[in-house]
Amino acid sequence: MAEPSVLFVCLGNICRSPLAEAAFRTEAERAGLNARADSAGTAGYHIGEPPDPRAIRTARTKGIDISGYRGRQASAADFHAFTHIFALDHSNLRNLERIAPAGHPAQLRLLLDLIPGREGQAVADPWYGGEAGFEVTWAEVSAAARALVAELAK
Ligand code: 4NP
Repeated sequence: MAEPSVLFVCLGNICRSPLAEAAFRTEAERAGLNARADSAGTAGYHIGEPPDPRAIRTARTKGIDISGYRGRQASAADFHAFTHIFALDHSNLRNLERIAPAGHPAQLRLLLDLIPGREGQAVADPWYGGEAGFEVTWAEVSAAARALVAELAK
């Protein structure tokens, strides 16, 4: 298989999808898997901005620096630039389906479909809560990242 390239997509690209990208990069490196990774938002609210300070702090507690990540908006071109696109929740999945070009080659799924028993579920948006919500996000995205790396390494 050609080198996999994975895009994680939430709403703002400052909370959930940067953490998913960081978790996947970390797990891929640990496993010696060559893969490209990026994240994006379906909304354009935070283009060019760093991740939310709570996401940056949460990643830092895992020894990962995401302060250099910058927000961008997902686009139709992403369906040709990435082999795998993961939506963090259902509304983002619907919005991605809406912009997907006909006949695109990318595989589009919900992120938690990767975790046995969590299929069809959303990674809850931690934006409105406190730091504890970001720990829940981290636990979910890192479990999904481990499952994805195992799948891609096969
Ligand atoms: P994210 O969280 O989609 O996980 O990045 C959000 C970030 C920003 C907003 C909503 C959710 N917002 O409304 O600006």
